[in-house]
Amino acid sequence: MYPKHKIAKALSFSLALAVTAGSSMMAQAKTFKVAVGDGAGGTQHELGKKFTAEFKQRTGGKHRAKLFLNGQLGSEQDTVNDAAIGTLDFSILAINNVTPFSPSVGVLTLPYMIQSLDDAVKLTQGDVGKELVANTLRDANVRIIGWAYSGFRVLTNSKRPITTLADLQGVVVRVPKNEIMIDTYKAWGINPTPMAWSETFTALQQRVVDGQDNPYITNYAMKFDEVQKYVTNIRYLFSIEPLIVSESVFQDQKPAVQKAILEAGEAATQHSAAWLADQEGNIKKELANRGMEISDPANGEKEWIEKATTTVWPKYYESIGGKAKLNKVLRSLGREGV
Ligand code: MLT
Repeated sequence: MYPKHKIAKALSFSLALAVTAGSSMMAQAKTFKVAVGDGAGGTQHELGKKFTAEFKQRTGGKHRAKLFLNGQLGSEQDTVNDAAIGTLDFSILAINNVTPFSPSVGVLTLPYMIQSLDDAVKLTQGDVGKELVANTLRDANVRIIGWAYSGFRVLTNSKRPITTLADLQGVVVRVPKNEIMIDTYKAWGINPTPMAWSETFTALQQRVVDGQDNPYITNYAMKFDEVQKYVTNIRYLFSIEPLIVSESVFQDQKPAVQKAILEAGEAATQHSAAWLADQEGNIKKELANRGMEISDPANGEKEWIEKATTTVWPKYYESIGGKAKLNKVLRSLGREGV
């Protein structure tokens, strides 16, 4: 027979082993939280679905990522702060809501800078994109690991059809809290209302504001056709929506998990570009079927383009890294410098 104190010692040793094994298993298997600003059916959701599937597969099912749609984890700008301090793992949000934290990213939100999906892909996946990823890491402690492409932000409103800047006067338009976008509307002659994305649907519904701009797919995902009637096909901003990871969360992971995060982000990015090309036309038709009236800006958008580029661009040369940097970006798109 074993003496009692030896049995007690053996028991407490096995208990300690069980606790250690249990806690290390818990430390190993993790479900990461991914904040998503938009609702289901949009490009953010699509990027998120692809990312979570790829991430799960690349970790052999050990780790997962769970999407929280419709700003459930906070406004898009708040999620950048939360990821920066490590209380949130991932967020998918519009680039215009990253710019306030890392001004050089503003080069992607200069009006009429990006003129096609091709431009957007070239900029984000080429040297310019790599530099912006590094700048965002330096400035905001978040790492961009993927990009969703959402198309041009069209103007919607509940008041009247708008094709000229004269039509726009007197319309109250919500914009994100983004200086470049605010200045663009000012250049067009109105004072827009800066407001968090998470408050926008209610503000449109209650007629606190008359209109807003976002891509067709986002307008669809947010059900804006229920509260907006008129659409103007302006093309001043091509919406790009990065997937960011908290740098402190990223650095806490083992190299294999970091690799899975980066590869899943890359796969989701490739998927997003193809998905936009495939879906945008159908969604535009669906919004028209639901009763939205769609117009093109008069005279090929000439007055909109002139006012925005001549007034807004010079104001932001410095914050985006200087005129030489801007010219480098323009030339990388096959355009002339300023
Ligand atoms: C905004 O308007 O604040 C954003 O573009 C919304 C979004 O994330 O889709």
